[in-house]
Amino acid sequence: MTEFTPSLPESDRSDPRAHFSRMRSMFDLVADRYDLMNDLMSGGTHRLWKAHFRKVAGPAPAGGQALDLAGGTGDIALALTRQGWSVVVCDPSERMMTVGRERLASVPVRWVAGAGEALPFPDASFDLVTVSFGLRNMTDRAAALSEVRRVLVPGGRFLCLEFSKAFWPMAPLYDFYSTHVIPRLGALVSGRPQAYSYLVESIRAFPDQQGLAGLMEAAGFTGVTWENLFFGIAALHAGQRPTAS
Ligand SMILES: C[S@@+](CC[C@H](N)C(=O)[O-])C[C@H]1O[C@@H](n2cnc3c(N)ncnc32)[C@H](O)[C@@H]1O
Repeated sequence: MTEFTPSLPESDRSDPRAHFSRMRSMFDLVADRYDLMNDLMSGGTHRLWKAHFRKVAGPAPAGGQALDLAGGTGDIALALTRQGWSVVVCDPSERMMTVGRERLASVPVRWVAGAGEALPFPDASFDLVTVSFGLRNMTDRAAALSEVRRVLVPGGRFLCLEFSKAFWPMAPLYDFYSTHVIPRLGALVSGRPQAYSYLVESIRAFPDQQGLAGLMEAAGFTGVTWENLFFGIAALHAGQRPTAS
């Protein structure tokens, strides 16, 4: 495994290849403890958010094909298969997908190595594309959103669950928690303090609710809406590839 050295700030994407390879190495390194850390850091809340995500995705239409981009260890893939979707996970971290494959050994999911910025799928391949806590880590978010639009069928849906801008009364508590607790917990459980300092930094640098909606619209999505979860700690954005495109 490659060592993850966070020598550059999160926002430094001036060398896209270096940024991409830092991200991949970081997720390879935290993969084995990733699910445990998610439960500990969120007190299980991420499970509620993902259960809600599954409801919003809804049951698959006949033959419904879904792509879970940045699918990691497969939480969303599992939720979607339970709704009848046929699911492909795409992620650049082989180690995250290995953990997922082992966890979901009896679930019919296809695992494909690839990056959001250059998806290895033909145009109009999927009825639904999902990204859960993944867009923030991508090196070129505009390129990834444009790729999502390309691989959706016209009229297909995009759902994006991501950390967002918390508001009162949660904002000060969350700020304290993310500054003082997350990096320490991350260091203790995963042994990778840098990865969890990165997490906090990347959440702060990520566009807020309105900002992400703007990025989606700029990439050509229509009907963009969002729903705040837990006072804006996370937000679930939805949009559509226009039918005539
Ligand atoms: C925080 S994890 C989210 C995993 C899963 N979706 C979940 O909700 O638990 C972020 C994932 O984004 C992936 N990732 C990082 N850079 C990416 C890129 N450029 N394209 C696609 N996925 C990327 C990582 O490998 C990692 O699996």
